[in-house]
Amino acid sequence: MYLYKLSKQNLELSKEELLAVAKKKDYEHVENYLLIDELVDYEKLAYTKKTYKLLFTTSKKNLIKQLELFNFNNIYKESFRLKLVNNHVFEILDLADIIWADIEHLEHPIVNLRNARTKIDIIFSKKIFCCLLIHKQKESFERRKAHLRKYNHPTSLNPRLARCLVNLSDAKEILDPFCGAGGILLEALLIRIKTNGFDLDKIMIKKCRKNLKSFNLKCDLKQQNALKINKFYEAIVTDMPYGKNSKISDIEKTYKDFLKKSYSFTNKLIIVFPNFTKNKKIITNSKWKIKKHFSYYLHKSLSKEIFVLGKNN
Ligand SMILES: C[S@@+](CC[C@H](N)C(=O)[O-])C[C@H]1O[C@@H](n2cnc3c(N)ncnc32)[C@H](O)[C@@H]1O
Repeated sequence: MYLYKLSKQNLELSKEELLAVAKKKDYEHVENYLLIDELVDYEKLAYTKKTYKLLFTTSKKNLIKQLELFNFNNIYKESFRLKLVNNHVFEILDLADIIWADIEHLEHPIVNLRNARTKIDIIFSKKIFCCLLIHKQKESFERRKAHLRKYNHPTSLNPRLARCLVNLSDAKEILDPFCGAGGILLEALLIRIKTNGFDLDKIMIKKCRKNLKSFNLKCDLKQQNALKINKFYEAIVTDMPYGKNSKISDIEKTYKDFLKKSYSFTNKLIIVFPNFTKNKKIITNSKWKIKKHFSYYLHKSLSKEIFVLGKNN
């Protein structure tokens, strides 16, 4: 069994991203932790902060006894450290001593508080989880923020959110037909997904190409109207345009036309709208079925409405 620590920034989105990658329906959810009986490709996740192997689950009353019973010899490698998360009851040295008693007869066991190979965390939530840390997220999303890229786009998506959208699609090939400066394409390429991008604006396509090139990446980019899509894609992942200068009625017509057109060219659509449009009504009036819906708060006057759309109920 594996335990995943989810980001609390948007818990529902974090959870669905992980489940989409895990392709699992069975899980246990405790506060901001998810338990799944499978080790997923954790390096590509945007909103999972830590991945653990679960050693055992217990209660406050039984913790000491369980620590004494567990065979830490089997998991110890090179050096170890113990960390207590959200603990208000136990002394860390008392618990570490129990583990130490188990491994001290091994050849040169070492405690290394800074960089141990065997990192044991005891997490105190509604239940107590004793686990071995497998992976802590180091992915450098912050360094890929739009204003740090070669060419910016004023409405470019946050890289972490863009990665999450790609993961929600769980596809091997995607199209972003309103690709702008390439925020979604970049995050998909970094996890080796085949990507295709369209943008109506020739200059945007040029900027997008240069942005991808600065990461040594490239994909199939075309100056093309998204409403004239003519090839089938495994999934479409896109953030709809909403320029402040465009009239809302025109923008909403683009949304309606795109939902209609895309229905014939994919079975899976991950689509993002600004909250100030009639997005839900427009979808409900299309043939698409809403599988998942999340609201993602950006600032006082803008939230993003994220929809996972599919075809049957
Ligand atoms: C919200 S931006 C996309 C931002 C992008 N997701 C990013 O993170 O950089 C929308 C883009 O859609 C393009 N666009 C607007 N109408 C279009 C259409 N009918 N077909 C293709 N692209 C279009 C605009 O030129 C703009 O670059």
